[in-house]
Amino acid sequence: MSETTVGARPDLAGFPTARDPRCPFDPPAEYTELRAQEGTASLSCPVGVEARVVSRYDDVRAMLSNPQLSSHAAPSTHVVAGGQLDRPVSPGSLLHMDGPDHARLRRLLTPEFTVKRIQAMRPYIQRLVDDHVDALLAQTGPVDLVSEFALPIPSLVICELLGVDYADRDRFQRQTAVLIATNSDPAALEQANLEVVGFMTQLVLGKLAAPGDDLLGRLIVRARESGQELSVEELVTLGITLLIAGHETTANMIGLSTLALLRQPDQLEALRADPGLAGTAVDEMLRYLSIVQFGVLRQATGDVTVGDETVKAGEWLVAVLSAGNRDESVFPDPDRIDLRREATAHLAFGYGIHQCLGQQLARVELQEVFARLHQRIPTLRLAVPFEEVEFKDDALVYGVKALPVTWDRAGED
Ligand code: HEM
Repeated sequence: MSETTVGARPDLAGFPTARDPRCPFDPPAEYTELRAQEGTASLSCPVGVEARVVSRYDDVRAMLSNPQLSSHAAPSTHVVAGGQLDRPVSPGSLLHMDGPDHARLRRLLTPEFTVKRIQAMRPYIQRLVDDHVDALLAQTGPVDLVSEFALPIPSLVICELLGVDYADRDRFQRQTAVLIATNSDPAALEQANLEVVGFMTQLVLGKLAAPGDDLLGRLIVRARESGQELSVEELVTLGITLLIAGHETTANMIGLSTLALLRQPDQLEALRADPGLAGTAVDEMLRYLSIVQFGVLRQATGDVTVGDETVKAGEWLVAVLSAGNRDESVFPDPDRIDLRREATAHLAFGYGIHQCLGQQLARVELQEVFARLHQRIPTLRLAVPFEEVEFKDDALVYGVKALPVTWDRAGED
């Protein structure tokens, strides 16, 4: 299939992306207006499509559970000019598969992400968080919480999940850090991409020869036993999908939620006083921050009804997860953080057949960070003025580029 890149439609209003710098945790103000409007607005996305913007909670859920809306041709981000539509989809690219092919692969993977399986990883994750807090505490000056804490923890969790040897974990972390950095130059990115594909191919070939007791090993055995053997290409793409989907998202949530909590001392104090609050706190922060900030794109494969409107085959829709998560008819006082709120029905993990496969794992990682970081470093604070913190305004996944922090150290005034 050919790759097409088309320009934005000048006759339509553009998809809003600018946030109010006074509260960079709130989605663009236009989303509130879009939610209040009758029907759906058609806006121009820089990637080159006109898309109907779905912003109310119920409509987002209805849209994402409609089997006639496809992810196949959808570029992973619609708000970036020069993106590609109709990009060829690699076998194993779960996010861009539909129907029975998607269901088959997802069914093979689901046993790896059950609550029981993920709970079994909790002790490892607790140790990892504690080790990284120890490493922070051993440092003297201000520390960048993103590079020293938020990025390495999810990266090592993915290593554990995929069964990467301990000896290879440093190299793996260095390569993937370049891959997901927003400021990597194109040559470094290309190089890192080649290295990660090479690394994953070696890993997959090793597991095919001798499947171990880890996600890839068990997946290979499960697929063989059910007569659905997976190719090297499918396994490599799957491994890389898990790596990217699980690393960047969780890392951004750790950095951004730490900053948001530092700005809400009453809520942070409640969490410090009762680490048991981490369970509800994690879902509330996922709702409030909705880091997949511009939502997800789908294309109609037949005429479908969304809300009261008919959408014709070939038309595009965007489900704006961050707008749905601030819908006051579902979440009263939606712009307020309330760590006691029961917010598990939020849309931050998407909805429907593509709903985040790794959500239990993300929750456990974030719960352990929430429960331990602020308990163990109770005087944690920003080391720079808030206005100097840089946000990832244009990135598919929202977050902070760096988070310089400091704390009171023994012996200091
Ligand atoms: C899908 C968000 C962590 C693996 C998704 C989707 C969202 C999302 C919104 C749906 C995309 C769509 O409908 O097009 C998040 C957030 C995370 C997180 C906010 C952390 C805070 C993880 C982790 C993993 C993971 C830790 C695994 C290690 C996946 C996979 C899919 C997915 C494999 C594709 C599922 C499918 O297409 O069937 N995620 N994710 N995610 N996520 Fe996550």
